[in-house]
Amino acid sequence: MKQFNIGHISEFPERRGKVVKIGGLELAMFNMGDGTIKAVENSCPHKQGKLSEGIVCDGHVYCPLHDWKISLTSGIVQAPDEGCVKTYNVTVEANDRVILHIDEAHLSVS
Ligand code: FES
Repeated sequence: MKQFNIGHISEFPERRGKVVKIGGLELAMFNMGDGTIKAVENSCPHKQGKLSEGIVCDGHVYCPLHDWKISLTSGIVQAPDEGCVKTYNVTVEANDRVILHIDEAHLSVS
């Protein structure tokens, strides 16, 4: 597991997506407004809409293209639609630094 210091939590506007490119991956990261940050791949399983541009509500992001609802915790698309996106573990340290944890197997560039 590799750890990346992504920045200070103040650099993540609440309930707005932020694009982070790292190790060949493009992630959408969201400040949930409760001191936590969620990270998912920045591509909707329907037609690759940019989830970073979606609206966040109740722990989910709504894809900006066709409004699929995706859990930011599990990555699962909510019924009646189907599919899932990859999720990534994020911790916020005591000094408010945002740390992204990624399995090295998922990185195409180190
Ligand atoms: S591309 Fe996301 S719902 Fe269609």
